[in-house]
Amino acid sequence: MKRTSRLFTHSLFGPVLKILFREGKMPSLVNTEIEAAVKGFLIDQEKMTEVVERMTKEIKMGLAKDTHSRAVIKCFVSHVQDLPTGKERGKYLALDLGGSTFRVLLVNLLSESDVEIVSKSFNFPVTLMSGSGKALFDFLAECLSEFCHYHGLENESLPLGFTFSFPVQQQGLSKGILVAWTKGFSCEGVVGKNVVTLLQEAIDRRGDMKVNTVAILNDTVGTLMSCAYYHPNCRIGLIVGTGSNACYVEKTVNAECFEGYQTSPKPSMIINCEWGAFGDNGVLEFVRTTYDKIVDKVTPNPGKQTFEKCISGMYMGELVRLVVMDMVARDLMFHGTTSERMQERWSFKSSYISDIESDAPGEYRSCNKVLSELGIVGCQEPDKEALRFICEAVSSRSAKLCACGLVTIINKMNINEVVIGIDGSVYRFHPKYHDMLQFHMKKLLKPGVKFELVVSEDGSGRGAALVAATAVQGKAKL
Ligand code: BGC
Repeated sequence: MKRTSRLFTHSLFGPVLKILFREGKMPSLVNTEIEAAVKGFLIDQEKMTEVVERMTKEIKMGLAKDTHSRAVIKCFVSHVQDLPTGKERGKYLALDLGGSTFRVLLVNLLSESDVEIVSKSFNFPVTLMSGSGKALFDFLAECLSEFCHYHGLENESLPLGFTFSFPVQQQGLSKGILVAWTKGFSCEGVVGKNVVTLLQEAIDRRGDMKVNTVAILNDTVGTLMSCAYYHPNCRIGLIVGTGSNACYVEKTVNAECFEGYQTSPKPSMIINCEWGAFGDNGVLEFVRTTYDKIVDKVTPNPGKQTFEKCISGMYMGELVRLVVMDMVARDLMFHGTTSERMQERWSFKSSYISDIESDAPGEYRSCNKVLSELGIVGCQEPDKEALRFICEAVSSRSAKLCACGLVTIINKMNINEVVIGIDGSVYRFHPKYHDMLQFHMKKLLKPGVKFELVVSEDGSGRGAALVAATAVQGKAKL
């Protein structure tokens, strides 16, 4: 069979974009049995439309007071009702916890065009992810203290925005109850608690800085706010990184779980969808594979975050590894043997997928590097083609499902033009993710709806500062 590729020319907001990517077609060197094994990852247009329909129903359930408690997509109210005006000023601290790194930031909003950000990433010991909540928050406070002392801020009374990227039921801008851990975290004694209190208590226990936690926000909200600072038409924030989630601007009257939804003078409310949990009630089985089920079983939260586990960077690599190991066991790849490293769970990093797909078709420079890191030697071209084919199957399903999610939100908002602010390692580093997302959204959206996908810089820094500014201003008005 001939290698098939598809050329799609697409024009949106100006420049003509040429997209070249394979759409699930079998490359010449890939064995038909391997093709059959990855078939489950290929979702056609009909299935994508079905995903949009089912997700629409779930989002409506999450928003409505009567159905919220049994909804899987919770649509939490963020209590952020103001998009940035560009007039926000001042110095803010921010903490960013939720992905593979932990960061402390100092953000100085100097003028509309001048935002100074100083940040430091800290090594996050893996043991903290499953230790006690106290140990986790003490560590965060310790890093914050180190940062403040280094920058001579210990005597400054600074407001802090806490980007905490987990499902949180917010009861105000500065009160958020953790509903469940995701992305491999499972610290004891935090679920059901107000995480702002836990953080502030840890800061106060130290007694060596004057920081006041004024706001807690999800990373999607920071991403939206940060993007809206420069793109006033930004109404959706998306993360496709270690985890996946989206938020959007809803009419306050539709945010029924917000106490003042009928009386608030402010017309909008950012909704943190927490779309990662979509499918936890079984409605996504028709797009899941046996490999998804294996991955799910070995996570600390089996049966939870079904959609996220099909989409995000924490799981994509492991999905590829499981397919490859299955092919090896069936003697269809690598002469039926593989390395010790490849046999270890989670050893195939999702960044390898981006690397492998970055090679031009027929070239294997990055692929060879990945194989050597994994200790796999003596591979022939068909093995490398098969590996790339498996990576493409996993990444294109991720992009298709993400496109379904965004289209669901755009339809729900019933708007004709929108900017979507995006962050996360999968979106940033996968060579075709942006193009795939755009391609599939365009196919699913009603004609005439225009959208722009924009990388949002520093959601957890600038975004957190903007939300903290809202909180400080709100308090000042009271
Ligand atoms: C969390 C979300 C977060 C997303 C991206 C998910 O696991 O539940 O709150 O926005 O990851 O970081």
